[in-house]
Amino acid sequence: MDINIFLSLLTTTVLIRKIGAACTFPDELRGTWVSSHKGALSFNDSLITEYPIQMSAVVSALDFNCHESSGRTYLIKSTTAVIAFGQLIDAYICLDLYRVSATKYKYFIGTTVDSSINDYVKGVMTQTNISMSDACNRATPYAANTFITLVKDGEIYTGSAQASCPSDLSAVYSTVVIKNSDDTTTCSGNSYDGCSQKLSFKSTYQACATSLVFSGSGDFYCLHSETIGDVTYTIVWNNDTTVSGTTYRSTCLATQTSGSVLYATEYPEFCRYSNQTGSSVMSPGIKYTMSSQSQTCVINKTGGQSGFYYFLIVLGILLVAGAVFLGVVLYMKYKNKIRMMELDVYTKESKSRPTTSKEEDQSKKTSDLTPKLPPIFPNKPLIQSNETENPETPEPEPKPANVERIYPEDEGQATAENHCH
Ligand SMILES: *[C@@H]1O[C@H](CO)[C@@H](O)[C@H](O)[C@H]1NC(C)=O
Ligand SMILES: *[C@@H]1O[C@H](CO)[C@@H](O)[C@H](O)[C@H]1NC(C)=O
Ligand SMILES: *[C@@H]1O[C@H](CO)[C@@H](O)[C@H](O)[C@H]1NC(C)=O
Ligand SMILES: *[C@@H]1O[C@H](CO)[C@@H](O)[C@H](O)[C@H]1NC(C)=O
Repeated sequence: MDINIFLSLLTTTVLIRKIGAACTFPDELRGTWVSSHKGALSFNDSLITEYPIQMSAVVSALDFNCHESSGRTYLIKSTTAVIAFGQLIDAYICLDLYRVSATKYKYFIGTTVDSSINDYVKGVMTQTNISMSDACNRATPYAANTFITLVKDGEIYTGSAQASCPSDLSAVYSTVVIKNSDDTTTCSGNSYDGCSQKLSFKSTYQACATSLVFSGSGDFYCLHSETIGDVTYTIVWNNDTTVSGTTYRSTCLATQTSGSVLYATEYPEFCRYSNQTGSSVMSPGIKYTMSSQSQTCVINKTGGQSGFYYFLIVLGILLVAGAVFLGVVLYMKYKNKIRMMELDVYTKESKSRPTTSKEEDQSKKTSDLTPKLPPIFPNKPLIQSNETENPETPEPEPKPANVERIYPEDEGQATAENHCH
Protein backbone atom coordinates (compact mmCIF):
# COMPACT_ATOMS: atom_id res chain seq x y z
CA MET A 1 0.00 0.00 0.00
CA ASP A 2 2.70 2.43 1.07
CA ILE A 3 4.69 1.56 -2.02
CA ASN A 4 1.63 2.14 -4.22
CA ILE A 5 1.09 5.59 -2.70
CA PHE A 6 4.77 6.29 -3.16
CA LEU A 7 4.62 5.22 -6.82
CA SER A 8 1.53 7.26 -7.52
CA LEU A 9 3.22 10.27 -5.93
CA LEU A 10 6.26 9.66 -8.08
CA THR A 11 4.20 9.49 -11.27
CA THR A 12 2.45 12.74 -10.42
CA THR A 13 5.87 14.21 -9.75
CA VAL A 14 6.91 13.08 -13.22
CA LEU A 15 3.72 14.60 -14.66
CA ILE A 16 4.41 17.86 -12.84
CA ARG A 17 7.94 17.68 -14.13
CA LYS A 18 6.76 17.58 -17.73
CA ILE A 19 4.59 20.67 -17.42
CA GLY A 20 6.82 22.30 -14.86
CA ALA A 21 9.01 24.50 -17.03
CA ALA A 22 6.88 27.58 -17.28
CA CYS A 23 9.65 30.06 -17.90
CA THR A 24 13.03 30.32 -19.56
CA PHE A 25 16.30 31.74 -18.33
CA PRO A 26 17.99 34.68 -20.11
CA ASP A 27 19.32 33.59 -23.52
CA GLU A 28 22.96 34.09 -22.56
CA LEU A 29 22.72 31.67 -19.66
CA ARG A 30 23.37 28.45 -21.55
CA GLY A 31 25.97 25.81 -20.92
CA THR A 32 28.19 25.88 -17.87
CA TRP A 33 28.37 28.95 -15.65
CA VAL A 34 30.33 29.08 -12.42
CA SER A 35 28.53 30.40 -9.38
CA SER A 36 30.65 31.77 -6.54
CA HIS A 37 28.18 30.01 -4.25
CA LYS A 38 27.51 26.69 -5.97
CA GLY A 39 30.37 26.16 -8.40
CA ALA A 40 29.65 24.90 -11.92
CA LEU A 41 25.98 24.99 -12.90
CA SER A 42 24.71 23.72 -16.21
CA PHE A 43 21.92 25.74 -17.84
CA ASN A 44 19.66 25.10 -20.75
CA ASP A 45 16.64 27.21 -21.61
CA SER A 46 14.59 26.16 -18.62
CA LEU A 47 16.66 23.75 -16.60
CA ILE A 48 19.61 23.94 -14.19
CA THR A 49 21.15 20.51 -13.79
CA GLU A 50 23.00 19.19 -10.76
CA TYR A 51 22.53 22.22 -8.52
CA PRO A 52 24.44 21.13 -5.41
CA ILE A 53 22.17 21.06 -2.39
CA GLN A 54 22.30 18.59 0.48
CA MET A 55 18.60 17.79 0.71
CA SER A 56 19.10 14.52 2.54
CA ALA A 57 21.80 12.01 3.34
CA VAL A 58 21.49 10.59 -0.17
CA VAL A 59 20.51 13.62 -2.23
CA SER A 60 23.34 16.11 -2.68
CA ALA A 61 22.26 17.72 -5.96
CA LEU A 62 19.00 18.35 -7.77
CA ASP A 63 17.84 19.48 -11.19
CA PHE A 64 15.73 22.61 -11.08
CA ASN A 65 13.17 23.79 -13.60
CA CYS A 66 12.44 27.41 -14.25
CA HIS A 67 9.03 27.34 -12.57
CA GLU A 68 7.88 30.94 -12.63
CA SER A 69 9.49 34.25 -13.47
CA SER A 70 8.62 37.86 -12.96
CA GLY A 71 11.05 40.46 -14.23
CA ARG A 72 14.48 39.46 -12.99
CA THR A 73 13.09 37.11 -10.35
CA TYR A 74 13.13 33.41 -11.17
CA LEU A 75 11.52 30.77 -9.03
CA ILE A 76 13.14 27.42 -9.68
CA LYS A 77 11.62 24.13 -8.59
CA SER A 78 13.25 20.72 -8.25
CA THR A 79 12.27 18.42 -11.11
CA THR A 80 11.83 15.55 -8.67
CA ALA A 81 10.44 15.41 -5.19
CA VAL A 82 12.82 14.32 -2.48
CA ILE A 83 12.13 12.19 0.53
CA ALA A 84 13.26 14.28 3.44
CA PHE A 85 12.16 13.98 7.04
CA GLY A 86 9.72 11.27 6.08
CA GLN A 87 7.91 13.39 3.50
CA LEU A 88 8.06 13.86 -0.24
CA ILE A 89 8.99 17.47 -0.75
CA ASP A 90 9.59 19.76 -3.68
CA ALA A 91 12.49 22.18 -3.37
CA TYR A 92 12.04 25.80 -4.44
CA ILE A 93 14.67 28.52 -4.72
CA CYS A 94 14.07 32.11 -5.66
CA LEU A 95 16.81 33.90 -7.64
CA ASP A 96 17.15 37.56 -8.63
CA LEU A 97 19.31 37.68 -11.75
CA TYR A 98 21.22 40.72 -12.95
CA ARG A 99 23.27 40.88 -16.12
CA VAL A 100 26.73 42.41 -15.72
CA SER A 101 28.08 41.43 -19.15
CA ALA A 102 27.67 38.67 -21.73
CA THR A 103 29.95 36.44 -19.67
CA LYS A 104 29.04 37.63 -16.19
CA TYR A 105 25.84 37.80 -14.18
CA LYS A 106 25.24 38.38 -10.52
CA TYR A 107 22.32 37.13 -8.51
CA PHE A 108 20.77 37.29 -5.10
CA ILE A 109 19.06 34.36 -3.47
CA GLY A 110 15.56 35.41 -2.49
CA THR A 111 14.89 32.40 -0.30
CA THR A 112 15.94 32.25 3.34
CA VAL A 113 18.03 29.45 4.79
CA ASP A 114 16.11 26.33 5.73
CA SER A 115 17.68 25.50 9.07
CA SER A 116 17.18 21.75 8.73
CA ILE A 117 18.76 21.62 5.26
CA ASN A 118 21.19 24.44 6.07
CA ASP A 119 20.89 25.97 2.63
CA TYR A 120 18.83 28.60 0.85
CA VAL A 121 15.77 26.57 -0.13
CA LYS A 122 12.06 26.32 0.53
CA GLY A 123 10.92 22.75 0.95
CA VAL A 124 7.20 22.23 0.33
CA MET A 125 5.18 19.02 0.56
CA THR A 126 4.82 17.82 -3.01
CA GLN A 127 1.65 18.80 -4.88
CA THR A 128 1.21 21.84 -2.69
CA ASN A 129 0.56 24.97 -4.66
CA ILE A 130 2.86 27.76 -3.62
CA SER A 131 3.09 31.27 -4.96
CA MET A 132 6.23 33.15 -5.77
CA SER A 133 5.97 35.16 -2.57
CA ASP A 134 5.87 31.97 -0.48
CA ALA A 135 9.27 30.90 -1.81
CA CYS A 136 10.76 34.36 -2.27
CA ASN A 137 10.55 34.80 1.47
CA ARG A 138 13.69 36.81 2.12
CA ALA A 139 13.17 40.39 3.22
CA THR A 140 13.56 42.90 0.41
CA PRO A 141 15.48 44.88 -0.59
CA TYR A 142 18.20 42.28 -0.32
CA ALA A 143 21.39 43.50 1.35
CA ALA A 144 23.41 44.75 -1.63
CA ASN A 145 26.64 43.11 -0.45
CA THR A 146 25.13 39.62 -0.63
CA PHE A 147 25.44 39.30 -4.41
CA ILE A 148 26.72 36.06 -5.93
CA THR A 149 28.70 36.06 -9.17
CA LEU A 150 27.91 33.79 -12.08
CA VAL A 151 30.62 33.69 -14.75
CA LYS A 152 30.65 31.74 -17.98
CA ASP A 153 32.93 28.75 -17.72
CA GLY A 154 36.38 29.36 -19.22
CA GLU A 155 35.93 33.12 -19.45
CA ILE A 156 38.14 33.82 -16.43
CA TYR A 157 41.23 32.72 -18.31
CA THR A 158 40.27 34.50 -21.52
CA GLY A 159 40.00 37.59 -19.33
CA SER A 160 36.49 38.46 -20.44
CA ALA A 161 34.89 37.67 -17.09
CA GLN A 162 37.61 39.32 -15.05
CA ALA A 163 37.17 42.73 -13.58
CA SER A 164 39.86 45.08 -12.45
CA CYS A 165 40.19 45.14 -8.72
CA PRO A 166 38.86 48.07 -6.71
CA SER A 167 41.32 50.73 -5.54
CA ASP A 168 41.33 49.29 -2.00
CA LEU A 169 42.98 46.15 -3.35
CA SER A 170 45.28 47.98 -5.79
CA ALA A 171 48.26 48.52 -3.53
CA VAL A 172 51.25 46.69 -2.12
CA TYR A 173 51.53 46.03 1.60
CA SER A 174 54.59 44.44 3.16
CA THR A 175 53.01 43.86 6.57
CA VAL A 176 49.91 41.70 6.60
CA VAL A 177 48.46 40.20 9.77
CA ILE A 178 45.78 37.54 9.36
CA LYS A 179 43.35 36.57 12.12
CA ASN A 180 40.27 34.44 12.37
CA SER A 181 36.89 36.04 12.95
CA ASP A 182 37.15 36.13 16.75
CA ASP A 183 40.85 37.09 16.85
CA THR A 184 41.91 33.85 18.55
CA THR A 185 44.36 32.75 15.83
CA THR A 186 46.95 35.07 14.33
CA CYS A 187 49.43 34.73 11.49
CA SER A 188 52.03 37.42 10.89
CA GLY A 189 54.85 37.86 8.40
CA ASN A 190 52.65 37.98 5.30
CA SER A 191 52.67 40.42 2.43
CA TYR A 192 50.20 41.39 -0.24
CA ASP A 193 50.73 42.57 -3.80
CA GLY A 194 47.72 44.06 -5.58
CA CYS A 195 49.79 45.75 -8.27
CA SER A 196 50.92 42.80 -10.36
CA GLN A 197 48.41 41.39 -12.84
CA LYS A 198 46.64 39.36 -10.20
CA LEU A 199 46.20 39.79 -6.46
CA SER A 200 48.79 37.85 -4.51
CA PHE A 201 49.22 36.98 -0.91
CA LYS A 202 52.79 35.88 -0.28
CA SER A 203 55.50 35.23 2.28
CA THR A 204 54.30 33.04 5.12
CA TYR A 205 50.68 33.07 3.92
CA GLN A 206 50.74 29.44 2.81
CA ALA A 207 52.24 28.45 6.18
CA CYS A 208 49.44 30.01 8.24
CA ALA A 209 46.93 27.75 9.97
CA THR A 210 44.58 26.24 7.40
CA SER A 211 41.68 28.08 9.03
CA LEU A 212 43.39 31.35 7.98
CA VAL A 213 44.05 30.43 4.35
CA PHE A 214 41.33 30.06 1.71
CA SER A 215 43.72 29.57 -1.20
CA GLY A 216 46.78 27.42 -1.76
CA SER A 217 48.48 29.69 -4.30
CA GLY A 218 47.38 32.98 -2.77
CA ASP A 219 46.69 34.20 -6.32
CA PHE A 220 43.33 35.78 -7.10
CA TYR A 221 41.48 37.51 -9.88
CA CYS A 222 38.74 40.03 -9.15
CA LEU A 223 35.34 39.11 -10.59
CA HIS A 224 32.99 41.83 -9.47
CA SER A 225 32.98 44.51 -6.81
CA GLU A 226 30.47 46.91 -5.38
CA THR A 227 30.97 49.71 -2.92
CA ILE A 228 28.28 50.18 -0.33
CA GLY A 229 28.88 53.07 2.01
CA ASP A 230 32.57 52.97 2.87
CA VAL A 231 32.97 49.23 2.40
CA THR A 232 33.86 47.66 -0.95
CA TYR A 233 32.76 44.08 -1.55
CA THR A 234 34.68 42.07 -4.12
CA ILE A 235 34.17 38.49 -5.17
CA VAL A 236 37.52 37.04 -6.17
CA TRP A 237 38.49 33.92 -8.08
CA ASN A 238 41.16 31.78 -6.45
CA ASN A 239 43.58 30.69 -9.17
CA ASP A 240 44.41 27.33 -7.54
CA THR A 241 44.23 24.43 -9.99
CA THR A 242 41.97 22.52 -7.62
CA VAL A 243 40.20 23.47 -4.42
CA SER A 244 39.05 21.21 -1.66
CA GLY A 245 38.20 21.13 1.99
CA THR A 246 39.46 24.38 3.46
CA THR A 247 40.13 26.24 0.21
CA TYR A 248 37.48 27.83 -2.01
CA ARG A 249 37.24 28.70 -5.68
CA SER A 250 35.56 31.99 -4.83
CA THR A 251 35.58 34.17 -1.77
CA CYS A 252 34.22 37.59 -0.96
CA LEU A 253 36.43 40.36 0.35
CA ALA A 254 35.09 43.33 2.29
CA THR A 255 37.66 46.12 2.29
CA GLN A 256 38.05 49.51 3.91
CA THR A 257 41.13 51.69 3.52
CA SER A 258 41.94 53.99 6.40
CA GLY A 259 44.91 56.22 5.61
CA SER A 260 47.50 53.80 4.31
CA VAL A 261 46.13 50.81 6.22
CA LEU A 262 43.76 48.36 4.57
CA TYR A 263 41.28 46.49 6.72
CA ALA A 264 39.83 43.49 4.95
CA THR A 265 37.74 40.46 5.77
CA GLU A 266 37.18 37.41 3.64
CA TYR A 267 34.28 35.01 3.63
CA PRO A 268 33.90 31.84 1.54
CA GLU A 269 31.79 31.94 -1.65
CA PHE A 270 30.01 35.27 -1.17
CA CYS A 271 29.38 37.88 1.50
CA ARG A 272 26.34 36.17 2.92
CA TYR A 273 26.05 38.37 6.00
CA SER A 274 24.99 41.95 5.47
CA ASN A 275 26.98 43.02 8.54
CA GLN A 276 30.36 41.96 7.11
CA THR A 277 32.70 44.96 7.03
CA GLY A 278 36.43 45.51 6.63
CA SER A 279 36.94 44.60 10.28
CA SER A 280 34.02 42.34 11.20
CA VAL A 281 33.13 38.97 9.75
CA MET A 282 31.25 35.87 10.85
CA SER A 283 33.04 32.55 11.30
CA PRO A 284 34.68 30.95 9.31
CA GLY A 285 35.66 34.30 7.79
CA ILE A 286 39.15 35.72 8.22
CA LYS A 287 40.46 39.22 8.88
CA TYR A 288 43.43 41.05 7.40
CA THR A 289 45.19 44.14 8.61
CA MET A 290 47.55 45.38 5.92
CA SER A 291 50.08 48.11 6.59
CA SER A 292 53.52 49.33 5.46
CA GLN A 293 52.00 50.30 2.15
CA SER A 294 54.85 50.59 -0.34
CA GLN A 295 52.91 51.56 -3.45
CA THR A 296 49.45 52.09 -4.81
CA CYS A 297 48.33 51.47 -8.35
CA VAL A 298 45.18 52.17 -10.25
CA ILE A 299 44.02 49.70 -12.81
CA ASN A 300 42.10 51.55 -15.48
CA LYS A 301 39.80 48.80 -16.55
CA THR A 302 37.09 49.49 -13.96
CA GLY A 303 33.54 49.39 -15.27
CA GLY A 304 32.86 53.10 -14.87
CA GLN A 305 36.04 54.17 -16.57
CA SER A 306 35.76 51.76 -19.46
CA GLY A 307 32.15 52.92 -19.79
CA PHE A 308 33.49 56.46 -20.10
CA TYR A 309 36.00 55.37 -22.73
CA TYR A 310 33.30 53.59 -24.68
CA PHE A 311 31.29 56.81 -24.51
CA LEU A 312 34.27 58.75 -25.88
CA ILE A 313 34.81 56.20 -28.64
CA VAL A 314 31.12 56.31 -29.61
CA LEU A 315 31.21 60.11 -29.49
CA GLY A 316 34.30 60.05 -31.73
CA ILE A 317 32.63 57.70 -34.20
CA LEU A 318 29.54 59.91 -34.28
CA LEU A 319 31.64 63.03 -34.89
CA VAL A 320 33.63 61.34 -37.64
CA ALA A 321 30.41 60.01 -39.19
CA GLY A 322 28.92 63.51 -38.99
CA ALA A 323 31.99 65.03 -40.64
CA VAL A 324 31.93 62.37 -43.37
CA PHE A 325 28.22 63.00 -43.94
CA LEU A 326 28.80 66.75 -44.23
CA GLY A 327 31.71 66.09 -46.55
CA VAL A 328 29.53 63.90 -48.76
CA VAL A 329 26.77 66.52 -48.78
CA LEU A 330 29.23 69.24 -49.73
CA TYR A 331 30.83 66.99 -52.34
CA MET A 332 27.44 66.18 -53.83
CA LYS A 333 26.52 69.82 -53.82
CA TYR A 334 29.77 70.58 -55.65
CA LYS A 335 29.19 67.70 -58.06
CA ASN A 336 25.64 68.86 -58.52
CA LYS A 337 26.83 72.29 -59.61
CA ILE A 338 29.20 70.69 -62.14
CA ARG A 339 26.38 68.39 -63.32
CA MET A 340 24.08 71.34 -63.76
CA MET A 341 26.70 72.96 -65.91
CA GLU A 342 27.26 69.70 -67.80
CA LEU A 343 23.50 69.19 -68.26
CA ASP A 344 23.35 72.66 -69.74
CA VAL A 345 26.04 71.65 -72.18
CA TYR A 346 24.36 68.30 -72.99
CA THR A 347 20.99 69.86 -73.71
CA LYS A 348 22.69 72.20 -76.12
CA GLU A 349 24.34 69.23 -77.86
CA SER A 350 22.66 66.34 -79.70
CA LYS A 351 20.70 63.88 -77.49
CA SER A 352 21.95 60.89 -79.49
CA ARG A 353 25.54 61.84 -78.98
CA PRO A 354 27.50 58.55 -78.52
CA THR A 355 29.41 58.20 -75.28
CA THR A 356 33.12 57.52 -75.40
CA SER A 357 34.67 54.76 -73.33
CA LYS A 358 36.32 57.38 -71.14
CA GLU A 359 32.96 58.91 -70.39
CA GLU A 360 31.55 55.47 -69.58
CA ASP A 361 34.31 54.99 -67.01
CA GLN A 362 33.56 58.34 -65.55
CA SER A 363 29.85 57.62 -65.40
CA LYS A 364 30.63 54.34 -63.60
CA LYS A 365 32.74 56.16 -61.07
CA THR A 366 30.04 58.70 -60.42
CA SER A 367 27.21 56.21 -60.89
CA ASP A 368 26.56 56.30 -57.14
CA LEU A 369 25.90 59.98 -57.40
CA THR A 370 24.24 60.17 -60.77
CA PRO A 371 20.91 58.54 -59.84
CA LYS A 372 20.65 60.82 -56.84
CA LEU A 373 20.97 63.89 -59.00
CA PRO A 374 17.39 64.25 -60.15
CA PRO A 375 15.92 64.53 -56.61
CA ILE A 376 18.60 66.97 -55.55
CA PHE A 377 18.55 68.98 -58.74
CA PRO A 378 15.00 70.28 -58.43
CA ASN A 379 15.17 70.33 -54.65
CA LYS A 380 15.99 73.93 -54.01
CA PRO A 381 15.40 73.90 -50.24
CA LEU A 382 18.10 71.26 -49.77
CA ILE A 383 20.61 73.36 -51.65
CA GLN A 384 19.65 76.32 -49.53
CA SER A 385 19.97 74.30 -46.35
CA ASN A 386 23.43 73.25 -47.51
CA GLU A 387 24.35 76.85 -47.66
CA THR A 388 23.06 77.47 -44.17
CA GLU A 389 25.12 74.51 -42.97
CA ASN A 390 28.23 76.11 -44.40
CA PRO A 391 29.05 78.15 -41.32
CA GLU A 392 28.93 74.96 -39.27
CA THR A 393 31.45 73.10 -41.39
CA PRO A 394 34.56 74.42 -39.65
CA GLU A 395 33.20 73.07 -36.36
CA PRO A 396 33.23 69.28 -36.96
CA GLU A 397 36.79 69.41 -38.23
CA PRO A 398 38.49 70.34 -34.95
CA LYS A 399 36.30 67.82 -33.09
CA PRO A 400 37.66 64.69 -34.81
CA ALA A 401 41.10 66.13 -34.12
CA ASN A 402 40.18 66.23 -30.44
CA VAL A 403 39.00 62.65 -30.59
CA GLU A 404 42.24 61.56 -32.19
CA ARG A 405 44.10 63.21 -29.36
CA ILE A 406 42.05 61.14 -26.90
CA TYR A 407 42.96 57.80 -28.44
CA PRO A 408 46.70 57.94 -27.69
CA GLU A 409 45.85 59.10 -24.15
CA ASP A 410 43.54 56.11 -23.80
CA GLU A 411 46.14 53.69 -25.13
CA GLY A 412 48.80 55.29 -23.04
CA GLN A 413 46.78 54.66 -19.91
CA ALA A 414 45.86 51.19 -21.02
CA THR A 415 49.47 50.18 -21.53
CA ALA A 416 50.37 51.73 -18.20
CA GLU A 417 47.49 49.71 -16.75
CA ASN A 418 49.43 48.02 -14.03
CA HIS A 419 52.00 50.71 -13.67
CA CYS A 420 52.56 51.54 -10.06
CA HIS A 421 53.18 55.01 -8.79
C1 LIG B 1 17.27 20.74 -21.30
O1 LIG B 1 17.90 19.62 -20.71
C2 LIG B 1 16.99 18.56 -20.37
C3 LIG B 1 17.78 17.49 -19.65
O2 LIG B 1 18.98 17.23 -20.30
C4 LIG B 1 16.32 18.04 -21.64
O3 LIG B 1 15.38 17.05 -21.30
C5 LIG B 1 15.64 19.20 -22.34
O4 LIG B 1 15.10 18.76 -23.56
C6 LIG B 1 16.63 20.31 -22.60
N1 LIG B 1 15.93 21.41 -23.21
C7 LIG B 1 16.30 21.88 -24.40
C8 LIG B 1 15.47 22.99 -24.96
O5 LIG B 1 17.26 21.45 -24.98
C1 LIG C 1 -3.06 24.57 -7.80
O1 LIG C 1 -3.14 25.63 -8.76
C2 LIG C 1 -3.76 25.25 -9.95
C3 LIG C 1 -3.66 26.41 -10.90
O2 LIG C 1 -3.80 27.62 -10.24
C4 LIG C 1 -5.22 24.88 -9.65
O3 LIG C 1 -5.84 24.48 -10.83
C5 LIG C 1 -5.22 23.72 -8.66
O4 LIG C 1 -6.54 23.40 -8.29
C6 LIG C 1 -4.42 24.08 -7.42
N1 LIG C 1 -4.31 22.93 -6.57
C7 LIG C 1 -4.44 22.98 -5.24
C8 LIG C 1 -4.28 21.69 -4.53
O5 LIG C 1 -4.67 24.02 -4.67
C1 LIG D 1 46.09 31.03 -13.26
O1 LIG D 1 45.99 29.65 -13.52
C2 LIG D 1 46.00 29.32 -14.88
C3 LIG D 1 45.73 27.86 -15.01
O2 LIG D 1 46.54 27.10 -14.16
C4 LIG D 1 47.34 29.72 -15.47
O3 LIG D 1 47.36 29.42 -16.83
C5 LIG D 1 47.54 31.20 -15.27
O4 LIG D 1 48.82 31.59 -15.71
C6 LIG D 1 47.38 31.57 -13.82
N1 LIG D 1 47.39 33.01 -13.76
C7 LIG D 1 48.18 33.66 -12.93
C8 LIG D 1 48.11 35.13 -13.05
O5 LIG D 1 48.89 33.09 -12.12
C1 LIG E 1 25.85 39.67 11.92
O1 LIG E 1 24.66 39.08 11.46
C2 LIG E 1 24.48 37.74 11.93
C3 LIG E 1 23.27 37.16 11.21
O2 LIG E 1 22.25 38.06 11.17
C4 LIG E 1 24.34 37.75 13.43
O3 LIG E 1 24.16 36.42 13.91
C5 LIG E 1 25.60 38.34 14.03
O4 LIG E 1 25.48 38.45 15.41
C6 LIG E 1 25.89 39.71 13.44
N1 LIG E 1 27.20 40.14 13.87
C7 LIG E 1 27.42 41.34 14.37
C8 LIG E 1 28.81 41.64 14.78
O5 LIG E 1 26.52 42.17 14.49
